[in-house]
Amino acid sequence: MSIKVFDSKEVQDLLKAAANLGSQDGSARAKEITHRLLSDLFKAIDDLDMTPDEIWAGVTYLNKLGQDGEAALLAAGLGLEKFLDIRMDAEDREADIHGGTPRTIEGPLYVAGAPLRDGVAKLDVDPDEDAGPLVIRGTVTGTDGKPVANAVVECWHANSKGFYSHFDPTGAQSDFNLRGAVKTGADGTYEFRTLMPVGYGCPPHGATQQLLNTLARHGNRPAHVHFFATSENHRKLTTQINIEGDPLIWDDFAYATREELVPHVVEKTGGAALGLKDDAYREIVFDIQLTPLVQGKDNQIVHRPRVSATA
Ligand code: DHB
Ligand code: FE
Repeated sequence: MSIKVFDSKEVQDLLKAAANLGSQDGSARAKEITHRLLSDLFKAIDDLDMTPDEIWAGVTYLNKLGQDGEAALLAAGLGLEKFLDIRMDAEDREADIHGGTPRTIEGPLYVAGAPLRDGVAKLDVDPDEDAGPLVIRGTVTGTDGKPVANAVVECWHANSKGFYSHFDPTGAQSDFNLRGAVKTGADGTYEFRTLMPVGYGCPPHGATQQLLNTLARHGNRPAHVHFFATSENHRKLTTQINIEGDPLIWDDFAYATREELVPHVVEKTGGAALGLKDDAYREIVFDIQLTPLVQGKDNQIVHRPRVSATA
């Protein structure tokens, strides 16, 4: 079967009517986007001869995706969030903005409101037998290499089961376990004392994993730690580091790995003096370089609904 109706007047009129292009009311931008996305979908249905069964399977899938609350997970898994990074990287090159720690995706598991500490924060609230101590520290500088004082570095990561507090299906974690925020002093340094995370896996019975299974893809991420770094005179940085040695570093279902974001993990002793649970610990030094505002503005601020809580 090769029915092609997309170019017919009937279908083109239907698309215009559905997006309400004939009216002056409503949001012009929303109408433009709706018309384009719907047109691309209708064209794809024609081109690929998608069957009614396939369309209804897709519609039913969207219902499950919403019921599972996984639309933002799927956005990461299908590379949509990575695509936005690729576009922002290209925008920076076009604007001749170079240097700075590379960005990578935020993911859907940030929670705003972690307590802000000066210089050093201990992130582990709950005991985790299976996770050894980890110190992540570094210096926040500008592209001129000078330390940035009063920068806020936020950090969040999973526990030894790959679960994030607030989103932990076992309900085992306290609010803000393995989440924290530090304000830098004059030397620009920050330090997080925490526990080693392991990689995250999509909920096995959720809509995201269901689609990934159909595509014969896994839904796992290497062990990683998320960061936001903000400072009044710099652009906000959204990034992550991967834990060196994780076998999935170059097989991340969310495509967030970047070569510059796999710092060395160093075995150290002296953890007792730092208040860590063991004397032997691992240390990652991750220096963060922020880029200047663009014509006085931060063009890196992304507005997306985020969970927030009070510590
Ligand atoms: C997803 C989970 C993460 O921990 C992350 O950092 C990015 C994406 C996800 O489930 O889509
Ligand atoms: Fe994550």
